[in-house]
Amino acid sequence: MKIVVFSGAGMSADSGIKTFRDSGGLWENYRIEDVATPEAFANNPQLVLDFYNMRVADLRKAKPNAAHLAIARLEEKYEVEVVTQNVDDLHERAGSSKVLHLHGELTKCRSTGDETDIYPMPEAGLMLGDLCKNGFQLRPHIVWFGELVPAMEEALKVVRSADLLLIVGTSLQVYPAAGLAFEAPQGAEVLLVDPGEMPAYMKATVTHIKEKAAIGVPKFVEERMGKI
Ligand code: APR
Repeated sequence: MKIVVFSGAGMSADSGIKTFRDSGGLWENYRIEDVATPEAFANNPQLVLDFYNMRVADLRKAKPNAAHLAIARLEEKYEVEVVTQNVDDLHERAGSSKVLHLHGELTKCRSTGDETDIYPMPEAGLMLGDLCKNGFQLRPHIVWFGELVPAMEEALKVVRSADLLLIVGTSLQVYPAAGLAFEAPQGAEVLLVDPGEMPAYMKATVTHIKEKAAIGVPKFVEERMGKI
């Protein structure tokens, strides 16, 4: 049986990582057009680098929560693939072995001259003047608004191969990623773990576990795996 997990920022909320659209979320304090678009980086690269350096620093202080750990444990019994909108590495640090990042990774940076020229994010974060081996400025390895989502094709294949799709902590507001929630094959079981309201159009086909991820996901895993 193959379980695919499709996670969003709510997955990492219980690790202390801010979500985007909840109250106190990142987009409450920053405008997307100032820090998360190619134009923003062209206009004020230092502001963009500062924004991601702050998020990298937050991530280094965070730890995987019970939901990340429970998903990693599923691998003892099931074939599991994680498709995440998150740019943190908490799924990997929890032990998940197959994680596909749709929106990039905070722990990496890349050349502005060649998007395949990727490096680990420096401990101190990125500064203007940090250059790739060919002399181009380095940038966060993040998919900004308005940029293509290179992993989308692969993600569609993964979700379409699921016997069970577990959606965790996403407002399903950002496409094309959000469309994955509707791509599970006919007959696959689809569940959503989110303390917020489930969109009405999902009520007929999706089982809603109306809990925080750190509570709802371990509960789901215990049911499917036996006592944790
Ligand atoms: N456990 C589970 N879900 C939670 C929790 C929690 N503790 N706290 C909040 N949530 C839910 C919210 O109810 C909401 O549905 O997590 C979701 C957070 O939604 P967003 O902040 O919009 O995050 P996300 O859906 O991942 O955003 C998608 O938008 O800004 C871009 O690239 C960014 O990947 C991100 C994308």
